[in-house]
This record gives sequence, C-alpha cells and structure tokens, in this order.
Amino acid sequence: MAKKINVGTLISGGGTNLQAIIDACLDHSIEASIVFTGSDTPGVKGLERAQKANIDTFVVDYSQIIQSCKKGIKETDLPNDFNLDEIQSKQQLVDTSASKGQMAFFLKTRAIAERKLLDIISDYDMDLLVLAGFMRVLTPYFIDRINTGPGKYKIMNIHPALLPSFPGTDGYGDTFNYGCKIGGCTVHFIDYGEDTGPIIGQKAFEIADTDTLDDIKEKGLEKEWELYPQCIQKFAESLI
Ligand code: GAR
Repeated sequence: MAKKINVGTLISGGGTNLQAIIDACLDHSIEASIVFTGSDTPGVKGLERAQKANIDTFVVDYSQIIQSCKKGIKETDLPNDFNLDEIQSKQQLVDTSASKGQMAFFLKTRAIAERKLLDIISDYDMDLLVLAGFMRVLTPYFIDRINTGPGKYKIMNIHPALLPSFPGTDGYGDTFNYGCKIGGCTVHFIDYGEDTGPIIGQKAFEIADTDTLDDIKEKGLEKEWELYPQCIQKFAESLI
C-alpha cells in the first residue's frame, strides 16, 4: 500500500475537481488527505465544499493585490528574497511582446501574492500541491520555493484540453472553436511555462457534430473527476 500523502489544494471557483478529490480521499480510493484549500478569490463555492469537509481554508485575494499595486509598488512591498532579474530570466510566461515595464509589474505583483500564499502554506506539512481550477499562473518565485530541486516536481495542474494543444485559459472553448472531434483533459506538473510541464495523465472523449460548448464542458469535467484522483494516487505510489 502507498504511503498516505498530504495534499494542499488551490482553487478559484466552483471546485468540482476539489470535490472529486475530497470524495476519493474519503472513500480511500486514493492514499491522500487534503490539508488545506486556498483560493485567489473570496466567496467561491469551492471554499464551501472544503469547509463542509472540515478542511482548513484561506484566501489570498489576487484582484485586490493587483489593484493596490496599480497605485505603485514600493521596494518594501516586495518579498525580501525577490530578485527581479533572476525571476525574469527563468520565467516563460510573459510573451516577448510585453514591454519590460509590463513584465516587471506582472512578476512583482505575482510575487507579492505568492509570498502571501507561501507564508500560509509553510504552516502545513505538504507532499503535493494540487491546482484544482486555480486560474492564476505561478511564477518561478513560487515554484522554486515549493519544488525541492530540479526535476522534483511538487505542483500538479489539471488543464481542460489535450496538451500540448490549446494551453491557456479556455481549453474547452478552444477545442470547440477549432472544430475538434476529440476533446480531453490533461494532468501535468507545473514548470516555468504556461501548461508546458511533464504530462502525468490524459483522458479523451468524442465530440459529436451536434455537441455544444456546454456538452463539451460536461463531458470534459466528468473525465477530469476520474483523472485527477488517479494522478494523485500515481504520485502517492511513487513516494513509497
Ligand atoms: C476545470 O475545467 C479545469 O480543468 C479548469 O478550470 C475548471 C475548474 O472547474 N482549469 C483551468 O482552466 C486551469 N488553467 P472546477 O472549479 O469545477 O474544478
């Protein structure tokens, strides 16, 4: 039997994937327990789901942080260990057409938010961080403080498309608009790019000519709820 792992979760919305993972922990189909659920947005349904399951919850309000940064970022607002040149040289998120100033603003605001996440997360004994519909990209500032070394990935994400097709924020929408006849979802580790990290598992479904975008989302989510617990279990087994 695999060692039981402690899983931290981050969400942004409804949390149906979180629910699937909670259920899989409770019925022992995976060797894991959820130690916290954090959200970048207050008041979302996923937080309620976690509280109902007696899981610690917290919010780091990204929108509020970004708004307040627009008034100006002082050196003292930034984490003590933040080095813009280092993060800039590692990151593969911001497209090259962004100005230097836009890129610096993006990386600084995210580091301020990510430091808050790290301060809270550091109170927990956590083997794996699971992004369950967390709609913020994570920068190398955060990733390097969670991963324990090069190639030792500890952050998993679920993406609503068959990567490497359709990275970004609207996987099912992009699948539908392209006219694909097969859709799917992917669980992968997080690296410095957007949806580019090593693939852990994928599930596909057929798209009928009559399917609407809502049909695709429905078919896709059902696959996600099966896939995510399976991938977490795979990680648990590799910890033996
Ligand atoms: C899911 O479809 C997930 O794949 C997607 O958000 C939805 C969250 O649903 N994630 C991303 O697009 C990440 N870039 P949920 O809150 O009901 O689990």
